[in-house]
Amino acid sequence: MCGIMGYIGKREAWPIVMTGLKRLEYRGYDSAGVGTIYKNRLRVAKQVGHLSALDRSYPEGLPGNVAIGHTRWATHGGITQENCHPHVDPGRLVAVVHNGIIDNAEEIKEALQKEGASFRSETDTEVLAHLIARELEEGRASSLVEAVRAALLRIHGTAGILVLSRLEPEVIVAARIGSPVVLGISDEETFIASDPSALVGHTTRIVFLDDSEVAEITARGFRTIDLQNRLREKRVEQIEFAPDEIALQGYRHYMLKEIAEQPAAIDRTLRGRTDMTSGTARLGGLKELGRRIFDFGRITLFGCGTSLHAAGVGQFLMERYARIPAGAEDAAELRSRNPIVSQDNLYVAISQSGETADVLSTLREIKMRGGMVAGITNMVGSSIARETDCGVYIHAGPEISVASTKAFTSQVTALSLMALLFARMRDLPAHEGREWVGGLNDASNEVHAMLVHRDRIKALAEEYCRSQYVMFVGRGISYPVAREGALKLKEIAYIPCDGLSGADMKHGPLSLIEQDSPVWAIVPPDETRERMVGNLQELKARGAAILAVAAPEDEEVARLAQFVIPLPPHHPACSPLLTVVPLQLFAYYAAVALGRNIDKPRNLAKSVTVE
Ligand code: M6R
Repeated sequence: MCGIMGYIGKREAWPIVMTGLKRLEYRGYDSAGVGTIYKNRLRVAKQVGHLSALDRSYPEGLPGNVAIGHTRWATHGGITQENCHPHVDPGRLVAVVHNGIIDNAEEIKEALQKEGASFRSETDTEVLAHLIARELEEGRASSLVEAVRAALLRIHGTAGILVLSRLEPEVIVAARIGSPVVLGISDEETFIASDPSALVGHTTRIVFLDDSEVAEITARGFRTIDLQNRLREKRVEQIEFAPDEIALQGYRHYMLKEIAEQPAAIDRTLRGRTDMTSGTARLGGLKELGRRIFDFGRITLFGCGTSLHAAGVGQFLMERYARIPAGAEDAAELRSRNPIVSQDNLYVAISQSGETADVLSTLREIKMRGGMVAGITNMVGSSIARETDCGVYIHAGPEISVASTKAFTSQVTALSLMALLFARMRDLPAHEGREWVGGLNDASNEVHAMLVHRDRIKALAEEYCRSQYVMFVGRGISYPVAREGALKLKEIAYIPCDGLSGADMKHGPLSLIEQDSPVWAIVPPDETRERMVGNLQELKARGAAILAVAAPEDEEVARLAQFVIPLPPHHPACSPLLTVVPLQLFAYYAAVALGRNIDKPRNLAKSVTVE
């Protein structure tokens, strides 16, 4: 969704802000803009479309050593030049960029219009520019930071903002109400962004603003207050970014790079966290739970999209191995059901970005009702990481492509560690724990073995990419994998498809199968195999072209399927790490064959920060 980048220092700000915004492109956007102050005048450049369109319209950029920039994902008002950020007040005193939604914008707008104000855009953000400017013009605020604080007290909703004023040309004011803002500290210059990845290459010294904080930023440093004007002490954290982690490194698309990175990402998730001697997992981030692990009577895992599918695998592992009743819930649905929160229920919020609005609101609701929430996230310092009671970082490295791939396998790895820890503390014998640890330690090599089939999968994708419909079927631990395969294909190739359980399939979707309809069947050698073979017979009888992921020695599946991607020997709890790989590659190559925009599929954003 929207991205923010700001700079104040001695260098020309335009190229720095544009580069930062480019790094945030992966979040998805439809227009962009930059505001600077030069010779005590506010200058604003805006353009609908990609950043390259903005660059083309302003080949020289705007001059100035201070700038704020924004990539917009339209919410209030269409994709027009007027609605692009930054927004200025009528007197061009201030310029504002904003991520989030102001819920009472209409109400404030009406009140301001009655007092004679006129608005140029349909956005909620313009209201904020008016409010801040009025505080200054009417003398209620003696500084920009004071004016921003006063304006924020009038709004309801979410706001990550940067503000410039020609009255204070050497200051940027930033604020965080729900929507993330981070400062990057360097010598004689300060960077501000909505996501630390925009700061790569500039600094590794980061300050995360907390909720309801306002920062007055200069080239030499910053000062932070809360909305009640109390000074807030902030800690400078060290974050290691490797610039090459966010480079394509010879790959054509981030999605393919991230699929290929999965073995390394899984190893990073596991590093230092398994204990072969005791056959268990060591998770420092869950120490908080201590002996309560014995007492939880239920585990509720929640997330959205791919993270929800990882939750589905986690549910299976918790029930099967730790013998704790578990559920995987769509975060938004869980909250909208007015959840019954109990003390013996552990909640687990799963999110790659750590910023997904539905996950964040649900975790807040659960905590407000006294529930305990653990987090599984990739982004260090993200809102979900900071607001959960305890948690596990997946350390998958930056995931740039909108389609989530390595985050899924790393989330499943982290959930496996969690389930192993719970299982060993409760019921699982040591030798079974050791077998599982062995399985996890071998997983990255096995994923490598799956990646080797990429050319064969590419050929399949080219053969079937013009199909009207593709079905993905799995049972048990493979059911969420089937759903994940379908999500990937519809998300980037725009092919209608379903991810179904073998049972589900018979209750309606089977009618979609015609001669040569492609069906991906996930048939690892586990307790679901026999039933799956039954499903394959039904599918074959109706003409389906079955593409199976199965053990190479499974002759029955080989007879029924058009094609089999062979699974190397593996621990049954690790099969999702392997079986998802051909499905990711199939989606990728189908989308390439169809000429889709792989890393930025239409209508989608990387991080969905509005509910
Ligand atoms: O950052 P999150 O894991 O919370 O994101 C959740 C979903 O928006 C995300 O997984 C989405 O479904 C992906 N684009 C799927 O590839």
